[in-house]
Amino acid sequence: MYQVTDLHLSLPDMTRKPLVGAAPRIHILKGLTFDVPKGAVLGIVGGSGSGKSTLGRAMLRLLEPTSGQIVFDGTDVSHLIEDQLRPMRRRFQMIFQDPMSSLNPRRRVGGIIAGPLRLHGMETAGKVDDALEMVGLPRSFASRYPHELSGGQRQRVGIARAIALRPDFILADEIVSGLDVSSQAQVLNLLEDLVRELGLTLAFISHDLSVIRRLCSRIIVLDQGKIVEEAPTEALFEAPKASYTRALLQAIPLPDPYQVWD
Ligand SMILES: Nc1ncnc2c1ncn2[C@@H]1O[C@H](COP(=O)(O)OP(=O)(O)OP(=O)(O)O)[C@@H](O)[C@H]1O
Ligand SMILES: [Mg+2]
Repeated sequence: MYQVTDLHLSLPDMTRKPLVGAAPRIHILKGLTFDVPKGAVLGIVGGSGSGKSTLGRAMLRLLEPTSGQIVFDGTDVSHLIEDQLRPMRRRFQMIFQDPMSSLNPRRRVGGIIAGPLRLHGMETAGKVDDALEMVGLPRSFASRYPHELSGGQRQRVGIARAIALRPDFILADEIVSGLDVSSQAQVLNLLEDLVRELGLTLAFISHDLSVIRRLCSRIIVLDQGKIVEEAPTEALFEAPKASYTRALLQAIPLPDPYQVWD
């Protein structure tokens, strides 16, 4: 589904922009190479500032790589312009960390879920209800506003909005970080079911290895814009190779958030 090869990305550092001339660039992603096979669930972990969100935004082509290649389903998307990307945009979707700021507070849930469908010129009839049902929310929630929902319910709306488009690939960036442990487990279980039912390919970004363990089959560990370790999930937990990975494992606050739910 995705092949990322020697991906480099630098951005202008606006905090150091001189009064005259261009801002110096900061090199954020430094030569990343990995694959996400179709149907796989890849975990992307690393500490704050390691480049996880930047990598996610590059994969969805919200950012353009400085060099290297991003191939999505056989198409090199690295340097496509927006007009060329538009027909593909439906196929890769993102779920955000903070549903309160990513959901328009003035729109009802039904309108929020229908928005991207309309944008892509798709029929909305029935799809909003279907999406709500898939994420386990009653249809009546279509007429609610985001502030009338709990954190976990809002995150389900974010998921419903993404899956309504029937994408092939979803990137989830820290989507359970703001939730309490039992809502976390519910959202993770839901995502697990959706991956299976819809045949999704998923990349799940988290700074917390414990939430990734059951969901992801493979993990890449980022540190300072580089991949320091890549391994099948169980191998990584049993015998982490990089000292950075060992440090992350030691930082796990809870043994397994699913325990609270199962
Ligand atoms: N628009 C930008 N301009 C300049 N630097 C940026 C920009 N966006 C991110 N950075 C820097 O790039 C690095 C990686 O940021 P990124 O947001 O990808 O990290 P992250 O791994 O997602 O961290 P977190 O876990 O805190 O979300 C950080 O040092 C950050 O300060
Ligand atoms: Mg981030």
